[in-house]
Formats: sequence, structure tokens, C-alpha cells
Amino acid sequence: MFVRPTFSILAIVLAPAIAYTWPSPQLDALEAIRYDQVGFNTIDTTLSSFVQPCNLYLFDSVAGGLKSGRSDAADWIRTAYHDMATHNISDGTGGLDASIRFPEEQARAENTGNGFVNTAGIVFAVFDRYVSMADSIALGALIAIESCGGPEIAFRGGRIDAGEVNNPGVPMPQESLLEHTQIFERQGFTPTEMIGLVACGHTFGGVQSSFFPDIANPLNDANDTEDVSHFDSTFVGFDNNIAGEYISGTTQNPLVAGFNQTTNSDSRIFGSDGNRTMRAFAQSPELFAATCADLYARMLDTVPRGVVLSEVIEPLPVKPSKVILTMNGDTLELSGFVRFWGLGENSTRTVNMLWENHNGGTGNSSLVFAGVSSSTGGKYTAAWYGFNPSSTFGFLSLDPVAGVKSLSFLVDGTLENQNGLGFAVQDSYMFSKTSCSSGAPLTGRLDVAVRNDANLTRLYIENKTFDSANRIVIVEVDVPRPAAPVAINSAYSLWSMNLTDQGVEFNLGAEIDGVKYSTAEAYDFEGFGTCST
Ligand code: HEM
Ligand SMILES: *[C@@H]1O[C@H](CO)[C@@H](O)[C@H](O)[C@H]1NC(C)=O
Ligand SMILES: *[C@@H]1O[C@H](CO)[C@@H](O)[C@H](O)[C@H]1NC(C)=O
Ligand SMILES: *[C@@H]1O[C@H](CO)[C@@H](O)[C@H](O)[C@H]1NC(C)=O
Ligand SMILES: *[C@@H]1O[C@H](CO)[C@@H](O)[C@H](O)[C@H]1NC(C)=O
Ligand SMILES: *[C@@H]1O[C@H](CO)[C@@H](O)[C@H](O)[C@H]1NC(C)=O
Ligand SMILES: *[C@@H]1O[C@H](CO)[C@@H](O)[C@H](O)[C@H]1NC(C)=O
Ligand SMILES: *[C@@H]1O[C@H](CO)[C@@H](O)[C@H](O)[C@H]1NC(C)=O
Ligand SMILES: *[C@@H]1O[C@H](CO)[C@@H](O)[C@H](O)[C@H]1NC(C)=O
Ligand SMILES: *[C@@H]1O[C@H](CO)[C@@H](O)[C@H](O)[C@H]1NC(C)=O
Repeated sequence: MFVRPTFSILAIVLAPAIAYTWPSPQLDALEAIRYDQVGFNTIDTTLSSFVQPCNLYLFDSVAGGLKSGRSDAADWIRTAYHDMATHNISDGTGGLDASIRFPEEQARAENTGNGFVNTAGIVFAVFDRYVSMADSIALGALIAIESCGGPEIAFRGGRIDAGEVNNPGVPMPQESLLEHTQIFERQGFTPTEMIGLVACGHTFGGVQSSFFPDIANPLNDANDTEDVSHFDSTFVGFDNNIAGEYISGTTQNPLVAGFNQTTNSDSRIFGSDGNRTMRAFAQSPELFAATCADLYARMLDTVPRGVVLSEVIEPLPVKPSKVILTMNGDTLELSGFVRFWGLGENSTRTVNMLWENHNGGTGNSSLVFAGVSSSTGGKYTAAWYGFNPSSTFGFLSLDPVAGVKSLSFLVDGTLENQNGLGFAVQDSYMFSKTSCSSGAPLTGRLDVAVRNDANLTRLYIENKTFDSANRIVIVEVDVPRPAAPVAINSAYSLWSMNLTDQGVEFNLGAEIDGVKYSTAEAYDFEGFGTCST
């Protein structure tokens, strides 16, 4: 029998995304976590190492691993859904806002299981000032899906972390089909979309007997030591087996063929339209993948009213990273890397960096290959080059008077200058290596080199603090403008401040022509040179 697919693939094609302009600290950070997953320069974007490979389970109780029957990928996807599932589309409350991190929310019957505490611990370790806990949850789920054979998902950033728990509202297996339909409607999904979203989620993972003894029995299986009854036979990967096994009647899904009729919620949901949607999914892996790409994106983008997400973040074709200027005596040290999306290692490729200075001149230096990174289960690669021609982690020494205003790159002779804009570099202020610290308790002096011709109205330390809900709050501590500036050279003077309790690590911020800037690097007070007195 021919069954008309319920979803049109054409309707699901993503709106074209526009690449943003570099630098943009928050988008740069989100883009990096999204696209720099494995390999060079991924130390700061390490979320993916807690998500993949797909058979990874970090909390495995069995030495040698991979025998627990569980997977971190499944934990991330369930966490994202349960965090979002509190959303009420009519009053705009709830949604993907990391409220699932609160122990009070985790303790609810609707959040039974240990997946949430597993992922929350990692979220606390990886989130930062530009990447909220909620964005980290969304990215963890996205990386899990994409790197485990799933479709690519349009990612938007800018989720805001809740300060308190949301109203309850996650569906539970013992509820009726009518209740589930109303719950998904409240979350913003139609009855057909409910079938889709449940199938898209339950292509991963399963039900743990220890937490759900009414649903799943212990298994006594040496390959499934945590007694997880899986939703389909391929529980660490994305595929349409969740639908194929259901339609063919071979499914072992504990929420379809479980011993307890009351909790067979997938059975009620999947059959709610006479199997029309599930049959279409079973027949077409492409339809299933395209439908899930759309539904997952909408799940991740379901946020409390008032939260404004970014455009879809695409990889920047050319992206400078960790661009850091430091004043060292009378030299301006410029370090950093540039990433070329879509390229791999190639020993015959030549890469040059050109930089415009304040005198109308242009510098030119060849760059050295630094490494390759990859993402999306190895589907994409990028080649990285360091700013020093002879060493991966070195720097270029520049004349401080000429300074540096913007960068561009030549790749085998082709100019990459961000459509004529160049890649702007802020040399109006920078950390000076004359800064020093000593002793316990720690005391010392911060020295910042400020360009005399810059319209710098404020200079400050960005002290990273946490509020009572564990959200990052940047406290700006002003570095006072010196009464009598101390010249470093003809272009820069020193602004200094004695340090006591300003936090061990901080970035430097400044307001220049009314715009706020922040350094790409955090400075470690303890790591300054030793004070001479
Ligand atoms: C009526 C709706 C739903 C019900 C009643 C339901 C119920 C459950 C239950 C009881 C478990 C077992 C959890 C455990 O043992 O730790 C589970 C696991 C899971 N659910 Fe759902 N679920 C629903 C919808 C969804 C949706 C919409 C998604 C995501 C799109 C999703 C994703 C998952 C995943 C990935 C797992 C596996 C977790 C793991 O193995 O660690 N679920 N679900
Ligand atoms: C959702 O919000 C509407 C409007 O405030 C309210 O009437 C309704 O009770 C809410 N639903 C739930 C399940 O809280
Ligand atoms: C089936 O599940 C319901 C709801 O959790 C529970 O009350 C009931 O005791 C279960 N029945 C069996 C046989 O486990
Ligand atoms: C466990 O998995 C291994 C392969 O990983 C397989 O050879 C073995 O038969 C499995 N054991 C059981 C009891 O399923
Ligand atoms: C859906 O398909 C399954 C498996 O073939 C079958 O057991 C079930 O009765 C069907 N449900 C409906 C509502 O047709
Ligand atoms: C390597 O780069 C050179 C240009 O420098 C190009 O001609 C060649 O095709 C590239 N090789 C590969 C394998 O991409
Ligand atoms: C930079 O140097 C390279 C050779 O190393 C040369 O091919 C290129 O034309 C130079 N570009 C500029 C703008 O000076
Ligand atoms: C820092 O402290 C030293 C003495 O400990 C003092 O001489 C100096 O004026 C202080 N500097 C500033 C910028 O406050
Ligand atoms: C800076 O942060 C540290 C903790 O990192 C805190 O102890 C200190 O009081 C903060 N200082 C200011 C001025 O906010
Ligand atoms: C410096 O910046 C401030 C703040 O934007 C602005 O009001 C002022 O006009 C600027 N001064 C100059 C000389 O550009």
C-alpha cells in the first residue's frame, strides 16, 4: 500500500544563513564549540569529548567500558528534551534554559533517572561567559545527534539560563494519549509532530530497569550491565530502526512491547494516527532524518519568551582564533591562529598573513601549518596555521609604533579579507609583561599598555564571579587612569593597578570610542613574573 508521507522534505529546507562578521566573541565561541570538535585547538571546545564517540559512556561502572548498555549521547538528548519540556507556549514560561540543572527539578518524578545529573556535571565544567549552560545543553544534544549518524541541525545560540526551577510538565509513560497530546501541544508541537519527536528521541538509548522497575526487567546481560532495555536494536546511533522495528512488529521497545500496558506510551503515541507517520518513517530513512532535523532544531530553539536567539550559525570560511597582543619591552607580540574551513593538511599550500598598520603600511609574513581539526563525526575538516613562521605556538614581533589594525590572509595567492572588511584587531590596549605578582597572600601589580592616540575612556579587569544560581556575572573593576602617564615608547603608556583580591584569572576590558572590548585571553595573576620588591 502506498502511503503519502506526512511531512514534505521541501518544507523543511533550512532558511539560508548569513555568515557573521569576525570578531564577535559570543558567536565565535559558539561557532567553535559547534565546529571545532576533535584535533587542533579544541582544548577550549572540549564539550564534544564528553559526547562522542557514540558508544562512549563516561560513568561506566565496568572496567574496559562499552558494556553498560548506556551512552552519553542518549543522556544529552534526553536532558535537552526534559529541560525544554516545561515550556508553555501560551504564557511563554519554561523551555530550554538549563533549569534541569537544579537538584529540585531533577528530584521530580517526571525526571527519574541519572542522565540529568551526569550531563549537568559536565555543563558546569564547560560553560563560560559566552556559552550559557542552556547553550551547552543544546550543543551537547546537537553534537550527539550529528556525530552519531543523525542529520545536521540548524544551530542558533544565545539561550539564557534560568535563575530558578520551571513549572513541572515533562510527560511520563503512565499518562494517557490525551494527556500526552495536550502536553506536546502546550510545548508547541502538533499530534503528528509528537509522534515524530518521540521517535526521533527514542532512536537513542532505552529504559533503565533500576529506575523504572515497573517498565523494564533486569536483563542479566554481560553486554548491558546497567540493565537498559533499548528502544531499538541500534541504540547508540541515529537511524529509522525505531520505526522499522515497530512497523514490522519485531520491536523490543519497552514503551511499546513492555510487560506493563499502562506504561506503553510509545505504543499509544506511535499508533495514534493509525501508524501513518511511523510507516512513512519506516519506509524512508531520508524522510525520518529530514523530519528529525526540523523537530530537533525546534526542540532546541524552544526557549522562554523574551529570549532572542542568534541567526543559524554557519562555519566561518576563514576564522582567526586566540588573537592576542602583548607588550614586551619595546616589542608588540602578536600571537594567534587562523582556521581555513574545509581544508586538510597540504604541504605544498602556502599561507601568508598580511596586516595593516597605523601608518598606512602592510606587513607580510608566511604562516606555519599547525594542525587539522574535524567535526560532525569527521565529516568536515579544517586546517590551522599559526601566526609565527617557524613555530606553532610562537608570535610575530611587531613595531609598536606602527601597531596593527587588521589582518588578511593569502592562501595559495588568493586573498581572504572577509569581503574587504579585513579581520579587525584591537591594539589600543594590551597586557604588559612588566606585570608582576608574588607571595601568599597573593599581591602584585597589573600593567596595561594603552595606545596614546586611542579614544580609550575606561580600562577594567573583568572579574569572573558566579551568582547564587551558578550563572557567570562579570564584575568590572576599573584600572584608574594614571595622573602622570608613564611612557613605554612613543606610542604607548602604562596604566597600572595594585592587585589583591581581583580573582586569580581575569580578562582585560576597555571602552574605546564607546564600544566595549575584551581580550581573547584570560590572564593568570599567579602566573605573572615575580615582583622585584
Ligand atoms: C511521551 C513522551 C515521552 C516519554 C513518556 C518518555 C519516556 C522515557 C523514559 C521512561 C525513558 C527512560 C529513561 C531512563 O531509563 O533513564 C526515556 C529515555 C529516553 N528518552 Fe524519552 N520519553 C518521551 C519523549 C522523548 C522525547 C521527545 C525525546 C527527545 C526528542 C526523548 C529522548 C529520550 C532519550 C534519548 C532517552 C534515552 C536516555 C538514555 O538512554 O540515557 N524522549 N524516555
Ligand atoms: C499555560 O499557560 C496558560 C496561560 O497562562 C495557563 O492558562 C495554563 O494553565 C498553563 N498550562 C500549564 C500546564 O501550566
Ligand atoms: C505498571 O505501571 C504502573 C504505573 O507506573 C504501576 O502503577 C503498576 O504497578 C505497573 N504494573 C506492573 C505489573 O508493574
Ligand atoms: C557481547 O558482545 C560481544 C561483542 O562485543 C559478543 O561477541 C558477545 O556474544 C555478546 N554477548 C552476549 C551475551 O550478547
Ligand atoms: C501499528 O503497527 C503495529 C505493528 O505492525 C501493530 O501492532 C499495531 O496494531 C498498529 N497500530 C495501529 C493503530 O494500526
Ligand atoms: C595541495 O595544494 C596545492 C596547491 O598548493 C594543490 O595544487 C594541490 O591540489 C593540493 N593537494 C591536495 C591533495 O589537495
Ligand atoms: C607577501 O609575500 C608573498 C611571498 O611570501 C608574496 O607572494 C605576496 O605577493 C606578498 N603580498 C603582499 C601584499 O606583500
Ligand atoms: C601600589 O603599591 C605600592 C606600594 O605597595 C605603591 O607605592 C604604589 O603607589 C601603588 N600603586 C598604585 C597604582 O596604586
Ligand atoms: C573577584 O573574583 C574573586 C573570585 O574569583 C573574588 O574573590 C573577588 O572578591 C572578586 N573581586 C571583585 C572586586 O569583584
Ligand atoms: C571618545 O568616545 C566617547 C564615547 O563614545 C565619545 O563621546 C567621544 O566623542 C569620543 N572622542 C573622540 C575624540 O572621538
